[in-house]
Amino acid sequence: MPDLDALIHAIPKAELHLHIEGTLEPGLMFELARRNRVTLAYDSVDAVRRAYVFSDLQSFLDIYYAACSVLRLEQDFYDLAWAYLERAAAQNVQRAEIFFDPQTHTHRGVPLEAVTSGLHRALQDGQDRFGISSALILCFLRHLSADSAMSTLREALHYRHAFIAVGLDSSEVGHPPEKFRAVFETALGEGLLTVAHAGEEGPPAYVWQALDALHVRRVDHGVRCLEDPALVERLVAEQIPLTVCPLSNVKLRVVPTLARHPLKQMLERGLRATVNSDDPAYFGGYVEDNLRAAGAALDLSRDDVVTLARNSFEASFLPSEDKLRILQQLEATV
Ligand code: ADE
Ligand code: ZN
Repeated sequence: MPDLDALIHAIPKAELHLHIEGTLEPGLMFELARRNRVTLAYDSVDAVRRAYVFSDLQSFLDIYYAACSVLRLEQDFYDLAWAYLERAAAQNVQRAEIFFDPQTHTHRGVPLEAVTSGLHRALQDGQDRFGISSALILCFLRHLSADSAMSTLREALHYRHAFIAVGLDSSEVGHPPEKFRAVFETALGEGLLTVAHAGEEGPPAYVWQALDALHVRRVDHGVRCLEDPALVERLVAEQIPLTVCPLSNVKLRVVPTLARHPLKQMLERGLRATVNSDDPAYFGGYVEDNLRAAGAALDLSRDDVVTLARNSFEASFLPSEDKLRILQQLEATV
């Protein structure tokens, strides 16, 4: 569909669900392994790609956390984020709200300062070089304890300038949002915004908890909300954004095929869905690739694509005057 693909490329886009560690492409993985003298479990880029066949979220997370062992120094985090920004600029991404997982690194002895300052410095340079506005969202690993999340938050408050929100990721089932109520209360008290992964593999009850216990502004994934009509009604009534990641959902077998993905149905039901890439180095593409693939598989219309782009800016944490400016630019493009 050349016309739709041209539109998808041309319109300004916001990426709201992207794990920076999930942008580690095999080429950079090998370069960092060499630089830091880390031994990888693979002997070539092709072998890495062959390993990327997942049966569920956990089978992916095991490989993803292992790959993070190549990230050690401030410069590594800078290079990781810079490589992402180059790709984002080539896809007309104008706003990126980016997750990072500090515990994945601090638990290996990497100082939190190396993580935050490497990422933060790259994002500032990305604003100067590409005009991409961006912000960091600090995610707690939900398979670890609430105490660990709380001490991570307390330490991170020394770098409060570097992030705007907190989130919740990693193995969902068995780790309900409720477990992190106190941590999120503390974060909210510090003026941080909140988001959480919920309803990816976990049940609709986790989405309710994310809303009521964690006071999230957006739900990350949320696709399983469709199993609960009362939840859908609430998400529609309150226009809570859902950061949907179509290629991720196929790769992690949340849905059987892209053609059976509920994205189109979500739009038809009035849910404020956005399209995002999650862990693009692992799942086969960045935000434009997700839009193209979903567009083709679900027969999305031009209006659907524009709605998704509009939703992405409306759901962003940009100040309202910036939102307005980009939304005007979007309307001018279509
Ligand atoms: N961390 C990185 N990608 C994730 C996903 N899709 N779900 C939960 N945690 C993650
Ligand atoms: Zn995610």
